[in-house]
Amino acid sequence: MKILGIETSCDETAAAVVEDGKRLLSNVVATSLDLHAQYGGVVPEIAARSHIESITPVVEAAVQQAFDGQKSKVIKSKARATEDVRHSTFGLSTEADPWDQIDGIAVTYGAGLGGSLLIGVLAARTLAITKKKPLYGVNHVEGHVYANFLTETKLPDYVLPGAAPSFPMLALIVSGGHTQLALFRDHFDYTLLGQTHDDAIGEAFDKVAKIVGLPYPGGPSIAKKALEGNAEAFTFPKAKLQGKYDFSFSGLKTAVLRAAQAACGKTYELPSSQLPGLLNEAQKANIAASFQRIAIETVVDKTLLAYEEFRPASVVIAGGVAANQELRRQLTEKLPLPINYTDIKLCTDNGAMIATLGCFKAMLGQPSVDPYSLDIEPNLSM
Ligand code: KG4
Ligand code: ZN
Repeated sequence: MKILGIETSCDETAAAVVEDGKRLLSNVVATSLDLHAQYGGVVPEIAARSHIESITPVVEAAVQQAFDGQKSKVIKSKARATEDVRHSTFGLSTEADPWDQIDGIAVTYGAGLGGSLLIGVLAARTLAITKKKPLYGVNHVEGHVYANFLTETKLPDYVLPGAAPSFPMLALIVSGGHTQLALFRDHFDYTLLGQTHDDAIGEAFDKVAKIVGLPYPGGPSIAKKALEGNAEAFTFPKAKLQGKYDFSFSGLKTAVLRAAQAACGKTYELPSSQLPGLLNEAQKANIAASFQRIAIETVVDKTLLAYEEFRPASVVIAGGVAANQELRRQLTEKLPLPINYTDIKLCTDNGAMIATLGCFKAMLGQPSVDPYSLDIEPNLSM
């Protein structure tokens, strides 16, 4: 079962082919990140325009890359079957069409930016109709979790876990738009244990980076700067919420702002835009390290709590913040169960995670969707 996955929910135009929900055959990502960096965040109109420019070459590259290695085998067998036809076509190429090998198409239809989602969904719908393939709509956040099921690839530079996670599986989903804990009893059978009431953890990384003047996206910038800092230099609060597995990061972000103002001897009235010019490098590093420690501890604490309560057979982390080394370090140190972390290239948005979930939908008989009517759902929840 080979599924092409298409992902365009935010600023990455991504496509990949995955076989049997475990083998990564290709993974192509084009990002418009550079175009957004000067604005300190994703500009929806710019993202949508770059998706329009990139979607066709990205999908073509993913399909080509997936079958490059198998080209000779495919051509040989097809040539045998079409020997007579070949003689009568006066040498015209009978090279196999890689699309023949694709069994279905999966696409992110939510959650995400409306204009961005629309480009991926329209591309997938068109391909499903013209190439006559079943179409599967995928929830972006569920997709992130499925990056952890990839265990094999011939692509260079990927380090994948040796085995897929087993059920019941506890998933910590930490991205720019989501912070959630979910318990999966099986494929397509899960309970959302809790989620953020305000900012997502990745959003907090991005906002704190902006406060101290580190480049967008804030997650990797904060993580890098934190390496030079003292994680105990500042004491930031952890939000206490009624829901045992709920999160809140807006208070932490405000506490960082106040601490940064105080660190340069200013009052609350100082506009945050002036802070990057007033803080020295050591202060920035200490703020980055102290913020990162608390933000990561917050999600690790709740993961441990859920582990104790539900005793899952596996724990996975998913979403852009799952690339964070401090998160991996704390979880490895504190969780009694070893975690198989996936490659950090599969944590941020990609088509492989969408293709993987698409494979499971196809293999386990989930219904495909109508390519003439699949609509986007920007506010889709888990
Ligand atoms: O999953 P993703 O690519 O997009 C969403 O679905 O939101 O996640 C992007 C988020 C951004 O907020 C980015 O700052 C954060 O993931 N991120 C990180 C790291 N790499 C990306 N946060 C912390 N540490 C990182 N190494
Ligand atoms: Zn994402």
